[in-house]
Amino acid sequence: MSSNAIQAKAVVCRELNAPVSVETVSVGPPRAGEVTVRMAAVGVCHSDLSGINGTIAFPLPVVLGHEGAGVVEAVGAGVVGLEVGDHVISSFVNMCGRCRYCQGGKPHLCEQAAKSGFTLPDGSTRVTDAAGQSLSLFSGCGVMAEVSTLHADNLVKIDRAMPLDRAALIGCGVMTGVGAAVNTARVQPGSVAVVFGCGGVGLSAIQGCRIAGAAMIVGVDTQDQKLAWAQDMGATHVLNGARQDNIVKALRTLTGGGADYAFDCVGIGTLTAQAFGVLRRGGTAVVVGLAPPSDMVSLRMASFIFEEKTLTGSYYGSTRPRLDFPRLIALYRQRKLLLDELITRRYTIDQAQEAFDDLVAGRNARGVIVFDEVLRAAGGK
Ligand SMILES: NC(=O)c1ccc[n+]([C@@H]2O[C@H](COP(=O)([O-])OP(=O)(O)OC[C@H]3O[C@@H](n4cnc5c(N)ncnc54)[C@H](O)[C@@H]3O)[C@@H](O)[C@H]2O)c1
Ligand SMILES: [Zn+2]
Ligand SMILES: [Zn+2]
Repeated sequence: MSSNAIQAKAVVCRELNAPVSVETVSVGPPRAGEVTVRMAAVGVCHSDLSGINGTIAFPLPVVLGHEGAGVVEAVGAGVVGLEVGDHVISSFVNMCGRCRYCQGGKPHLCEQAAKSGFTLPDGSTRVTDAAGQSLSLFSGCGVMAEVSTLHADNLVKIDRAMPLDRAALIGCGVMTGVGAAVNTARVQPGSVAVVFGCGGVGLSAIQGCRIAGAAMIVGVDTQDQKLAWAQDMGATHVLNGARQDNIVKALRTLTGGGADYAFDCVGIGTLTAQAFGVLRRGGTAVVVGLAPPSDMVSLRMASFIFEEKTLTGSYYGSTRPRLDFPRLIALYRQRKLLLDELITRRYTIDQAQEAFDDLVAGRNARGVIVFDEVLRAAGGK
């Protein structure tokens, strides 16, 4: 490890279904094309939990975190457009800008991203533990740490006036949810939408539907507190799925014949089937939640033909980060995108396990780990 490596605390998953460990790691300086970021805040996303419980397979040990914002600390050779002191949001899909997907306007499907799911694009990482062992990076980010060295293609520069704890949420949950509605489904004004699952992602999908002008937005969850938050975010109606014998029938009745759009923001095959089931003719169901690899969905084939229904997935809200992140910040400033209200609780990095326990228990709209000192220095509240 280079002599100018930085010692920093990081949240590491060493063993599946075991508590995370908060440890001091050594973060190496950026090589060509890379950037070291002093993190200000990182959201606690269900996908991090999916790394801990094995739904998403990462080589362990892995530094968690893929929803972060911070301040550039050092810039490697050849990096264009980022300087020390710049404020950035992490983007959990590495985007090369050159492949057929990037060139085709779908950079979230970039070929380079497949090579950097748990490392930097060159196949290595800059972070080692106290014993000198190299650690993987969650989605090429590993930003649940005081300091992280990422590839420049995983960073988006933002306006310094944007508070970094709220900016962090744009890095995953908010972009994923809003983008599923606005970019993937292209929700139309006056339409009817149903959102299954009102966690950080689903609440953002509700906001995306509201921003796109949906006339009726139904939030479905199994916890009443989530439904109250859904209403705060723009749901015009809510239903507790745990109290319904036949949720599809209830939703078809409530919507007066079915929804134009339905979003599975939980990630369960049976819920995806329900989302497909509540669609009216010509409707679109969007799978946003990530199910375990073994989960399957069974659908009536004829519905694709006679009702011309669409079923699609949405990865990262079909984002083009350098276009979408600044747009989301602009919507936040206009009070059209609510971010302050999404943060239920802030944690220190030492409270990381508590943050995951709260996520499992469903206590938060979003929990955020905040690195106080940096946030103060950066001018955030
Ligand atoms: N598509 C993507 O690119 C992408 C990006 C980020 C997260 N995700 C996935 O999105 C999902 C949601 O993430 P999150 O951070 O919002 O999680 P979360 O845990 O905050 O929210 C999940 C919500 O679903 C609710 N729920 C659980 N079972 C339900 C059921 N049967 N019916 C209705 N509601 C139910 C929970 O009460 C909770 O409110 C996860 O699977 C996550 O991995 C996908
Ligand atoms: Zn690409
Ligand atoms: Zn996420």
